[in-house]
Amino acid sequence: MNTSQKETMKRGEFLRSLSLGTSTLMAFYCMGTMTSCSSGEMDPLTTTTPTTPTTGTGTSGLTGNATTSAGAISFTVDLTNATYSKLKTAGSYIIIGDLIVALSTTNTYAALSKVCTHEGTTVQYRSSENDIYCSNHGSEFNLTGAVDKGPAVAALKAYKTVLSTDGNTLTVSA
Ligand code: FES
Repeated sequence: MNTSQKETMKRGEFLRSLSLGTSTLMAFYCMGTMTSCSSGEMDPLTTTTPTTPTTGTGTSGLTGNATTSAGAISFTVDLTNATYSKLKTAGSYIIIGDLIVALSTTNTYAALSKVCTHEGTTVQYRSSENDIYCSNHGSEFNLTGAVDKGPAVAALKAYKTVLSTDGNTLTVSA
């Protein structure tokens, strides 16, 4: 038997043992997850991108409507809710429905349309510049929505923001 044959046998033995090992592992895995598999739950390894609610009645931390397709923008977010508590930190922002809501580095709230007026990309808040930026072609907007730098030429629509006296509720409206 030459070296090549020995290696072939070794590989074959290895693959057989691996196959047995895999089958055994799969059997244990299925036994362990039988309940969740049969109930139709997702694989625990599956991940999803977190999103904020767009409409709500309060239980999710949002009350009202944050999408233009559902009527006038008018909503309140509970800043003590984990989903929105980031908006208590200066220099942070969250996309809520069709809006970008930011607490500037100077502690003022801004709520603007999230849709870049150039070609519709979702904009982002840059704490380093304290402005709104579109990563697609580099447009920049100030926190009133006005264009600082093109190619965008039209301003982002701005919405009113009112912080409750206790600082725990932010109301956004047209
Ligand atoms: S889509 Fe925003 S700059 Fe072009």
